[in-house]
Amino acid sequence: MRAAILRGRGRAPTAGPRVRAGSAAGADRVLRHPAAKPVVFALCLLPLAMLLAGALGGTLGANPAEALIRSTGDWTLRFLCLALAVTPLRQATGWHALARWRRMLGLFVFFYACLHFLAYAWLDMGLVLSDIVRDVGKRPFVLAGSAALLLLAALAATSFDAAVRALGGRRWRALHRAVYAAALLALLHFFWMRAGKNDFAEVGVYAAVVAVLLGWRIGKNLIQSRVAAGN
Ligand code: HEM
Repeated sequence: MRAAILRGRGRAPTAGPRVRAGSAAGADRVLRHPAAKPVVFALCLLPLAMLLAGALGGTLGANPAEALIRSTGDWTLRFLCLALAVTPLRQATGWHALARWRRMLGLFVFFYACLHFLAYAWLDMGLVLSDIVRDVGKRPFVLAGSAALLLLAALAATSFDAAVRALGGRRWRALHRAVYAAALLALLHFFWMRAGKNDFAEVGVYAAVVAVLLGWRIGKNLIQSRVAAGN
């Protein structure tokens, strides 16, 4: 019965799935348009452009250094959620062209994480390495952020075709599951930072998003392994 359902038998054909498949194919074509990738690339640079404009125009508020550190942290977390959403969205909608954007979005996560670290190292620590190392040891939330950044660095370094070939598909996929560990460490970093102020509303929103995306992934893997075991 399950096999019949998987093959699409066992129920009368309806117009619904065909219409949905048609619109998914239409959206997929738009996503495959040669202009789509440069447009998304430019959109990903918008937060940086806004922050630079704010810094140069003096509109970042009373404490521009804090605003820069915090905004780059926020954007790192937002891009991390976007990168994690690519596969579930692709599977749910059939927009397979989204897969072409996964690497670019992942590299933007690392890019904004580097900007965040740079803003902290420069504006908070005056680029004094010994102060940064001491701070990482002293404040647990900074340690959690640093661990997330190291994981993202490993993923960025192995995101290219040559690394995929060198590692082999299976090992590469296993390594890149570490993106979920990076997301959990980033959430811990944010949670710890806000714990001092007893302010968890925003952290809760991000935690819910990551939980849904991770839950989807785990659910999909379970279904796939059950189907494979049933064959
Ligand atoms: C994946 C890596 C990281 C992510 C996703 C991340 C994310 C965040 C977020 C969301 C905030 C809070 C922003 C807000 O209040 O609106 C934040 C603040 C902060 N992060 Fe990170 N972070 C990361 C790595 C790091 C690293 C490596 C460091 C330093 C070594 C760091 C140092 C800080 C500092 C100093 C603050 C501001 C604390 C304050 O203003 O009191 N973060 N980060």
